[in-house]
Amino acid sequence: MGKKVTVVGAGNVGATAAQRLAEKALCDVVLVDIADGLPQGKALDLAEAAPIEKHDSHLVGTNDYELTANSDIVIITAGIPRKPGMSRDDLIKTNAGIMKSVVENVAKHSPEAVLIIVSNPLDAMCHIAFETSGFPKNRVLGMAGVLDAARFRCFIAEELDVSVENTHAFVLGGHGDTMVPLPRYSTVAGIPITKLMEKSRIDALVDRTRNGGAEIVALLKTGSAFYAPASAAVEMAESILKDKKKILPCAVYLEGEYGINGLFIGVPVKLGKDGIEKIIEIELTEDETQALMKSADAVRSLVDDMAKL
Ligand code: NAI
Ligand code: 2OP
Repeated sequence: MGKKVTVVGAGNVGATAAQRLAEKALCDVVLVDIADGLPQGKALDLAEAAPIEKHDSHLVGTNDYELTANSDIVIITAGIPRKPGMSRDDLIKTNAGIMKSVVENVAKHSPEAVLIIVSNPLDAMCHIAFETSGFPKNRVLGMAGVLDAARFRCFIAEELDVSVENTHAFVLGGHGDTMVPLPRYSTVAGIPITKLMEKSRIDALVDRTRNGGAEIVALLKTGSAFYAPASAAVEMAESILKDKKKILPCAVYLEGEYGINGLFIGVPVKLGKDGIEKIIEIELTEDETQALMKSADAVRSLVDDMAKL
């Protein structure tokens, strides 16, 4: 039987993710949104591109969850995005309600699915999805680190005038201003960037990575990034669908790893057919550990605030 992925939210990120999933011929795609006609129209448009793009992925759009039944993966992008002047955390009240209702429906129709959460504020939304679904922790993960690392890789490649394919980067922590890019573990053809660039240049790229989302919001003015976020979510989905066992930074529920307990935080994990198959604990310096703890504190205070809503 072919694989089936549901994408909830047929806006910028969701529709682009559906396009990438289909055009890579990874699975059939069900696109869900509350807006009448939007998922149906986008799914039909993407289906009509299939003969030219040369794939046989089946795409369908819907406003309810019947057609999503027994999805292997559900990517959740439903919610409102940031506008200039807003932080990701400003979205919490609206998106928390949306996430809860979406996950109730998803869990009912696809009890065995792996959930990939995209909606912001990411780490807090993962908590809602985890609690609402009741799914085991290996089947609830958040997309942020793959995007943040891709941004860091893009800036590294540009700075050193090398192929992006030669770059590798790790960004840990929460998906916010406190995220923790790790230059020591970021490489070009296996060489740590700490051996290839002045510290001042690395600091500038780290800063740009931390502000990568805001940079795009300021340019677009009407919403936030979606091409790279969709690519990031689809890379995670592909590793699960094909049981590739890629090591990718994802927001996952920690129970003592890295000294963090009961919190979704971005760390490297192995992604295969069962979702999160292993949490990889890499050695951190004291400064890196402190930065990760600061990021965890920021996520914890957001989760605590959410509980008071
Ligand atoms: P968008 O506004 O283009 O699309 C959101 C869609 O969700 C809309 O079509 C809306 O009708 C739909 N929606 C709202 N309530 C719904 C519900 N109850 N059920 C189903 N659909 C519903 O926004 P965009 O740009 O696609 O962003 C989506 C979310 O992803 C935002 O919260 C944004 O902040 C977040 N995001 C997170 C990233 C990350 O790194 N984790 C990166 C980029 C975006
Ligand atoms: C981003 O980093 C808005 O979280 C989104 O682009």
